[in-house]
Amino acid sequence: MQNNYLVVGSGLFGAVFANEMAKRGKKITVIEKRRHIGGNIYTKKIEGIQVHEYGAHIFHTKMKDIWEYINQFANFNNYINSPIANYKGEIYNLPFNMNTFNKLWGVVTPNDAKQKIEHQKKSFGLKGHPKNLEDQAISLIGLDIYNKLIKGYTEKQWGQSAKELPAFIIRRLPVRFTYDNNYFDDPYQGIPIGGYTQIIEKMLSNKLINVKTDTDFFKKRSKYLSSDSKIIFTGMIDEFFDYELGELEYRSLRFDTEILNEDNYQGNAVVNYTDFDTPFTRIIEHKHFEFGKGNKGKTVITHEYPQSWHRGDEPYYPINNKRNKKLYSEYVKLARERFPNVVFGGRLGQYRYYNMDQTIMAAQQAVKNEFEK
Ligand code: FDA
Repeated sequence: MQNNYLVVGSGLFGAVFANEMAKRGKKITVIEKRRHIGGNIYTKKIEGIQVHEYGAHIFHTKMKDIWEYINQFANFNNYINSPIANYKGEIYNLPFNMNTFNKLWGVVTPNDAKQKIEHQKKSFGLKGHPKNLEDQAISLIGLDIYNKLIKGYTEKQWGQSAKELPAFIIRRLPVRFTYDNNYFDDPYQGIPIGGYTQIIEKMLSNKLINVKTDTDFFKKRSKYLSSDSKIIFTGMIDEFFDYELGELEYRSLRFDTEILNEDNYQGNAVVNYTDFDTPFTRIIEHKHFEFGKGNKGKTVITHEYPQSWHRGDEPYYPINNKRNKKLYSEYVKLARERFPNVVFGGRLGQYRYYNMDQTIMAAQQAVKNEFEK
């Protein structure tokens, strides 16, 4: 049985793993290449406001046990994610619901809205299977919503025309025939009061855990690989193998954060800009995640610009197309053959778009695996 572990990456996966293993008496070293712990859920206080440095993070889950687990580390407020869309100055509620349909078409009852959508779908007249994302979206929701709320946003996000994007990206669209702006269906949702970083700090506070920031695994790779610690690697699996089989593709993002001398810039935490000509996809106004906390006369906003990924950029989103899925499975095979004692975990190690609740579940499973061998 292994007694020492080296966890590469202090994000949510690494922190949950380290916390659970230390509780079971194991000694853990966590190395982190950034200057701070927390991975992408890191938050930092600016002007009394918890700023989500790597994109807006709203905790939501269907799983009661995961909700109770995360609540050990912070108190959560009752924030409900209700983003709005700004299409050339016109404001619409998301996800698509009766408020959206009323604003678009003046319909008032669910029946009127259903009829309108059916009419829109029919007038498009798609025959056979949708060939691309555009066909798929219009066949699901009709032309008006597609043109105003889907097309521009999706093309900016993926950096490609909707006619070139595969249909499978939009399998279904959440459409609600109630006046309910709550984006998520999950019964548990909120934002940790005081931010996310405290959660990671508490997870890593056990005396058996030693944390080293500003420490890149690849700078002393052979030393780490030859030590007697078992490695839990939560960085990029393709980088671990020096891209030997080729690069997995990612989408990246640029965040431009600024402090404004006003109390309330946009009246909502998340505003999506759904036209193609506005170069950013969203503006986040962080204080609204905590119902307006922060210094008087100040607010902090972040513009999000989707980017293509090149080596050295932050790999925010895995791109789950056929090519990448195949390549990832080849890396998994290589890992089993060459490094059977290294566990690849988390969003980058497993090349999977995990929400936070799924990340916690995957880390808990990795802990179980250690004791079942
Ligand atoms: P994460 O990437 O956080 O951590 C990996 C860590 O490893 C990083 O700190 C990295 O620096 C470090 N590392 C990498 N290579 C290394 C090396 N060579 N040496 C040392 N350290 C190394 N989820 C949700 O539930 N609700 C939400 O609203 C959102 N929103 C959201 C927005 C955006 C823009 C993104 C990208 C993601 C989300 N998520 C989300 C998902 C959420 O961020 C995710 O579930 C967890 O942060 C994943 O944690 P990991 O530990 O797997 O990865």
